[in-house]
Amino acid sequence: MVSQSLLVLASIIGYTAATGVLLPLYVYPSLDFGDGAALWQPALSAISSSPNVPWLVVVNPHNGPGLSGQPGDADPNYISGVSQLNAHSNVKTIGYVRTNFAASPIAEVEANITIWKSWGTYTAADISVDGIFFDETSTSDFNYLSTVISFARNAFGSKAITTICNFGVKADVQFYSICDVVIAFESCLNCKDSSGAQLPQYKSQTTITSNIPSGKQSQGAILVHDFVGTAADGSAASTALLQQYTHTLALNGVGWCYFGSAGYSSITTPPATVGALAAAVASG
Ligand SMILES: *[C@@H]1O[C@H](CO)[C@@H](O)[C@H](O)[C@H]1NC(C)=O
Repeated sequence: MVSQSLLVLASIIGYTAATGVLLPLYVYPSLDFGDGAALWQPALSAISSSPNVPWLVVVNPHNGPGLSGQPGDADPNYISGVSQLNAHSNVKTIGYVRTNFAASPIAEVEANITIWKSWGTYTAADISVDGIFFDETSTSDFNYLSTVISFARNAFGSKAITTICNFGVKADVQFYSICDVVIAFESCLNCKDSSGAQLPQYKSQTTITSNIPSGKQSQGAILVHDFVGTAADGSAASTALLQQYTHTLALNGVGWCYFGSAGYSSITTPPATVGALAAAVASG
């Protein structure tokens, strides 16, 4: 726990947390039409309450920029939500595309990147995106990923974007030269799949050491989407364990993390609510 006076000093000297939050904000923004993105308010308050924490917030209307092809998917709820995200200086809003392990047609991925770029042409509100999240990236097809990432950087031209590659597992160090952020672990805390097979368990330092190449920690990201039950070592999922995990990530200089307690379908399920995550990351 960092003392209050250190926190005050940190805010005076412009301290930025070592680890930021990479939030896959896949929940729909609104409960009722035109409610000002009511379902995103817990994320927006967590962002406001952690001004020294950098946030990468991934938005995803429909496995991509949405079926309308229009900025904001021509949806007032998305337009409201994204413009509220963009009002925060510690947020970069990132558009979702799916590469399906290098099986999505490149032309389709590129067409979606072009639509994401077009969100920046909307004039009634700032719904521009600052980067692209490439989901389901293949650890074995460097050329495919290099092609679509180069396309994205060119499409956005003079705007320097953030590219995030979701391998979900350890990826070769060469990918760190083309992806700004590399998701090197994505799993539940400790669970089985529907056939009863054990999925990769999150083991804090052990996972960090084995999945992120040495020297690349600041580009590395860890996503734990079902932080419930008990960890592999028997520790109960709790806000104390969350704090311990984010502290270890910070000590290792790991750039980004996400912990949530109900897949990607809720940001308010305890113990890893978005607010608890923000507090844990902010305290280092
Ligand atoms: C492109 O975006 C559309 C609409 O969001 C989505 O249905 C489609 O799966 C996306 N394709 C790829 C390759 O991301």
